[in-house]
Amino acid sequence: MHGQDGRGTRTARMVVAQILGEGVKKAMEIPPSISGWDDIVSVVITGARGMLGRELAGALQRSSWGQSRRQAIHACDLDEMDITNPSEVEKQISAWRPQLVINCAAQTDVDGCESNRARAFGVNADGPLNLARVCRRYRSKLIHISTDFVFDGRGHGPYRPDDETGPLNVYGESKLAGERAVQQNLDEHLIVRTAWLFGSGGKNFVSTIRQLAQERDQLEVVKDQVGSPTYTADLSEAIIHLVQAGAEGIYHFANAGNCSWYEFAREIVRQCGYPTKVKPIGSAKLKRAARRPAWSVLDVSRYKKATGQPVRSWQQALADYLSKI
Ligand SMILES: NC(=O)c1ccc[n+]([C@@H]2O[C@H](COP(=O)([O-])OP(=O)(O)OC[C@H]3O[C@@H](n4cnc5c(N)ncnc54)[C@H](OP(=O)(O)O)[C@@H]3O)[C@@H](O)[C@H]2O)c1
Repeated sequence: MHGQDGRGTRTARMVVAQILGEGVKKAMEIPPSISGWDDIVSVVITGARGMLGRELAGALQRSSWGQSRRQAIHACDLDEMDITNPSEVEKQISAWRPQLVINCAAQTDVDGCESNRARAFGVNADGPLNLARVCRRYRSKLIHISTDFVFDGRGHGPYRPDDETGPLNVYGESKLAGERAVQQNLDEHLIVRTAWLFGSGGKNFVSTIRQLAQERDQLEVVKDQVGSPTYTADLSEAIIHLVQAGAEGIYHFANAGNCSWYEFAREIVRQCGYPTKVKPIGSAKLKRAARRPAWSVLDVSRYKKATGQPVRSWQQALADYLSKI
């Protein structure tokens, strides 16, 4: 659906409109495109108390853009703007009038989504739909965060943004429905799929393994799921670079390299310097409610091409995170 580098710029679309014979008047009706931070005065971050939202709000505040426009970041969560409530979304966006909305709000309890499908679809599909509709009305760009769980895990190489989707669980289905709602209701969108997040301000795999390794001599961790661990600080920087590059369409971002949860746990224990043994087990042993993809490694070459930015390895990102906690 999208070209290799996402959608075109405002100029490109105006040119296309003129070539089609619609003339300058029609071209001027096309909503203004945001091709970098210079065009942005106000940003809304939803789900800002979550692991990514918190990190992103901080990264934006520390950025040169944030330093010059301190009052312009509206970092909100459920209590201030419930994204499942259309009138609340309308009320807040009409008051804040952001040029950019970044949706980090989600129902991320993957097993919990299996037993509460309505809640999963409410937050992960209807939420982005409400945001996209209101963004269209107020001519805001929407960045929507999505997941490697939209894939079925039967791939043989890293998943590219245009690869066929096929979620295995309700969480993945609801996130894919959210992507489609954004694509179908708003031209000016950017969908960033990411995976296996760790970072400050939230319980995550790294903090859990670190805690357990302090308490136990041996840990059992699944070996038959392989993915791309990703540090929220690196993802936040990546989102900022993508905005600067004027990226639109679907992009993948994850730290470089891949591993199983077992290998990830072993590296956490090694970097922490604990003597704890890590034993590999199969997923079946955990009897979790949601099926998970066996392979969900993300190809980030579109990101690198659009931004010109390198992507560091998950091991380096892990070391950085561990040095800060
Ligand atoms: N975590 C991962 O490993 C991972 C992997 C791939 C992709 N992602 C995606 O990355 C994004 C960020 O994930 P995360 O781990 O930072 O999530 P998170 O820590 O669970 O944060 C999500 C935030 O959204 C809030 N929220 C829930 N329902 C809401 C609603 N109706 N309106 C407004 N806010 C609401 C949550 O509040 P409550 O806590 O009160 O519910 C929470 O503060 C999500 O889109 C997720 O799907 C995450």
